[in-house]
Amino acid sequence: KLDTDQLIIDAGQKQFGATTCSSCGMVYSADNPEDNFQHTQFHQRFLDSIKYVGWKKERVVAEFWDGKIILVLPDDPKYAVKKAEEVRRIADNELGFQQVTLSRPAQSKTFLFINTDRLVVGCLVAEPIRQAYRVLEQPDHNKDMTKDDFMERHRAWCCSTVPEQALCGISRIWVFSLARRQSIATRMLDTVRSTFVYGSYLTKEEIAFSDPTPDGKMFATKYCNT
Ligand code: ACO
Ligand code: ZN
Repeated sequence: KLDTDQLIIDAGQKQFGATTCSSCGMVYSADNPEDNFQHTQFHQRFLDSIKYVGWKKERVVAEFWDGKIILVLPDDPKYAVKKAEEVRRIADNELGFQQVTLSRPAQSKTFLFINTDRLVVGCLVAEPIRQAYRVLEQPDHNKDMTKDDFMERHRAWCCSTVPEQALCGISRIWVFSLARRQSIATRMLDTVRSTFVYGSYLTKEEIAFSDPTPDGKMFATKYCNT
């Protein structure tokens, strides 16, 4: 799939000799010593954080040919809570969130997508909420991106001023950069809807995204319209 964004990024990377590490996904310039150093620093720490060794007691909530989704709750064994925190920290870091505190830690549910290489490649944190402000419908810009569309894509969300009933807030959703566009976020969200409230399947109106990024917005718009 080609779009103007991607062409610009590729051209930029060639020009500055940037490479993408095929294991940690970091984009850096291999001929720049400082960049190299930063990559070395990041690489092992990142891979350690997303490594999943397997637990005796794990709560598998969905299984696929390319992985599974496990659920971690606040009262789970320490090793599980610690791993969930570790991955959440990575997601927060990428999202530019400063603090790792959750609004309702005791009721938060962390869903982790584990791939067949035993890496945590997806993380979703869901929390019960009572109300939310609906994101107003915006046109789809997937095809024929012009410069105006590009600007539009990076604009802030337009939210309604009327609070509406919602049950489940998605406070964070993150997929490892090298594993994106493989429906991992979609499958995590489908799993949240079927397991968040026991015995019921939440509608798309009953879930709300908090503070979405441009990526999050593109994803949420697509997800909510299909
Ligand atoms: N640009 C355009 N469309 C997109 C994008 C994107 N960046 N991401 C998803 N979509 C749309 C596509 O239509 C896609 O279907 P397609 O691949 O068949 O075209 C559809 O959404 C489904 O996408 P998934 O494959 O399920 O999404 P993915 O697993 O790639 O994860 C996510 C999406 C979580 C937003 C990922 O890009 C990411 O982690 N980004 C960085 C962190 C981030 O910004 N997270 C959202 C923060 S908002 C919040 O946490 C509440
Ligand atoms: Zn690397």
